[in-house]
Amino acid sequence: MTPPRLAETNLFKPITVGAVTLQNRLVFAPTSRFRMDDNHSPTDLVKKYYEARSENNGGLIIVEGAFVSPQAGFFWKSPMIYTDKQVEAWETIADSIHSKGSFVSLQIYYRGRVGDPKKLKEHGLPLLGPSAIYLDEESEKAAIAAGNPLRSFTVPEIKQLITEFKEATIKAIKLAGFDFVEIHVGYMYALAQFVDIATNQRTDEYGGSIEKRSKIVLEIVDEVVAAVGAKHVGIRVSPYIKFQGGSGGDSKLMHPIAQYAYLFSELERRAKEVDFSNLARCVD
Ligand SMILES: Cc1cc2nc3c(=O)[nH]c(=O)nc-3n(C[C@H](O)[C@H](O)[C@H](O)COP(=O)(O)O)c2cc1C
Repeated sequence: MTPPRLAETNLFKPITVGAVTLQNRLVFAPTSRFRMDDNHSPTDLVKKYYEARSENNGGLIIVEGAFVSPQAGFFWKSPMIYTDKQVEAWETIADSIHSKGSFVSLQIYYRGRVGDPKKLKEHGLPLLGPSAIYLDEESEKAAIAAGNPLRSFTVPEIKQLITEFKEATIKAIKLAGFDFVEIHVGYMYALAQFVDIATNQRTDEYGGSIEKRSKIVLEIVDEVVAAVGAKHVGIRVSPYIKFQGGSGGDSKLMHPIAQYAYLFSELERRAKEVDFSNLARCVD
């Protein structure tokens, strides 16, 4: 049997995702390149980088993780979508990718316990995680030295985080012109820290059971979908991750299949009930 030519495989067939029809199924994974300016805005170099990847493409570019707010954490030369200037700079990049016939999603995230304690302190902001559990000795020393020890989110701070995801989504979709946002629930950043028992030992409504650990993610999904529509929203998860202290299937107290099956079933239930039928999902 002769194998089909690559050009004739599904990889190069159009597919409708949310509100757009991609010309192929090639998706550029979010890749942090640390090329933003000191105000966390994309530079000309960033524009060139994404233009080069959208040329002769027609598929989907997922732009590297951008902080939803200063409280989301800071990281050297990493992007944010918060100020007007940042939003305008992202609009230029989204326009440029569209002008080449490709489509674009912005990954949005929040660092949580792996935020930069020193930078946060400089901005008068606390270092917050689901629980006060440090990643390692080094991060504990850095937080203490900065005078910004890790503490757990209060419930009002959780509600504020949810609002910040919603506002960043509105800025990305309605102002900057991205086709999608991708909510980052992977790689043990803040939202994955809530889902994983290794980092979430809360005893309130946001921890203590599979459902309660998933609650923050589902509340964000509901808020952003209400704000911009399900066709513009994707989610990334990494259930087996061990990076940055993920339990990765090793915990006797939480199995990734049970934990994430619940999360997916809740997304699916919403898809059936409120027409999330075009929810764009990217699952590792
Ligand atoms: C330099 C670099 C930066 C990355 N930045 C991000 C990021 O911002 N967000 C994210 O979800 N994944 C990020 N990743 C992970 C990639 O999206 C991807 O999942 C990983 O490279 C594995 O790709 P593979 O499955 O094709 O091997 C990054 C990877 C690399 C190598």
